[in-house]
Amino acid sequence: MKLTGPFKQIVTLANLPLRGAISDEQLEVITDGGILTENGVIKKTGIFTNLKNEFPQAGINLIEDEQICLPAFVDAHTHICFGGSRANDFAMRNAGKSYLEIAESGGGIWSSVQHTRAATEQELIETTLARANALIALGITTIEIKSGYGLDPENELKMLRVIKKVQQLTKATLIPTCLSAHLKPKDYSGSAEEYLDHIVTDILPKVKAEQLAQRVDIFIEQSAFQPEESKKFLLKAKELGFEITVHADQFTPGSSRIAVEVGARSADHLEATIDEDLAYLAQSETVAIALPGASLGLGEKFAPARKILDKGGILAIASDWNPGSAPMGNLITQASILATYQKLSTAEVLAGMTFRAAFALNLMDRGTLEHGKKADFVTFKTDHFQNVLYHQGSLTAKQVYISGERIQ
Ligand code: NIG
Ligand code: FE
Repeated sequence: MKLTGPFKQIVTLANLPLRGAISDEQLEVITDGGILTENGVIKKTGIFTNLKNEFPQAGINLIEDEQICLPAFVDAHTHICFGGSRANDFAMRNAGKSYLEIAESGGGIWSSVQHTRAATEQELIETTLARANALIALGITTIEIKSGYGLDPENELKMLRVIKKVQQLTKATLIPTCLSAHLKPKDYSGSAEEYLDHIVTDILPKVKAEQLAQRVDIFIEQSAFQPEESKKFLLKAKELGFEITVHADQFTPGSSRIAVEVGARSADHLEATIDEDLAYLAQSETVAIALPGASLGLGEKFAPARKILDKGGILAIASDWNPGSAPMGNLITQASILATYQKLSTAEVLAGMTFRAAFALNLMDRGTLEHGKKADFVTFKTDHFQNVLYHQGSLTAKQVYISGERIQ
């Protein structure tokens, strides 16, 4: 048993609603707090001196300077397993080139596919681990990672095996997702519909047999997969026992509706969602995941996070870290900026990066600091929790704990 503290403030994120708006006044803030952990799990949070008296047998992990403590963050949408760089896409976009022109000059998702296919497993293990470590340094201890830059059975399975191997090298929790339906690869001769069937027949059974992922994602968009074929694909994936998530409404509306109809766990992006679909999504169990990093990377508008919350939806915020649209990889900075533009409370942003994001990944064991939850927490050297978002990422995590063990 170990008691960590005292913290100037512990913000537990406990006893908050899963859906809808939250004000900062609703946050439980324990002043001069401590966290009692045992076997990787939180036994109790409370006032440090009280816990010390109540559990005299606990070892003390003393915090000597002024720090605040939050639940560690959950990044519920990333593509951090990839080869190559897309810096030239960025330059071309900023020079006014269109999506098509960039793709034709060798950029776009297809360029990342070629680099990822060319990379060895060992190279991908090293780069993916380095990116996971960069996220851990920010206080993110649960990381979803998608395939989707392989786009054939050999390379999709290679990516998912890499993610599985990286899981053995990190204490963070990695949640793999099969995104073979990212794009119809240029070297596949059949139709998009045939490619989706090929995934169902030739990729998903292997993913299942090797236990490489329990989640399936698709990019529904004019430039990727169309609504009807996507819906059929998602229902088949569901029949095979996969949980579903969708890249929805990034540039054109319509696909968040499909996500809800098929019972997807989350609909991610939503920059182009129309009001009617927003209301439909907000009333559902499907989590709306805003990806401000993609808006910043592409110069597009932000997802309507404020409206989603006001309509009672479940809002999570994720980094979408990928080489094309979101190369920054700093969720704290991105979420802070989203708060500024979408008028989100600190409580809403923190909820969107903790227990609401954990819900999007079907992880009910984490995201708040209360009895029975996984002891993943992050500290910042400051006297007030509001400073974390206020500094837009320049106040960096001081200590990071995973299952009660300090790893930074
Ligand atoms: O989430 N929208 C599709 N997929 C990624 C971008 C991937 C890429 O450009 O490599 C996204 O933004
Ligand atoms: Fe994405």
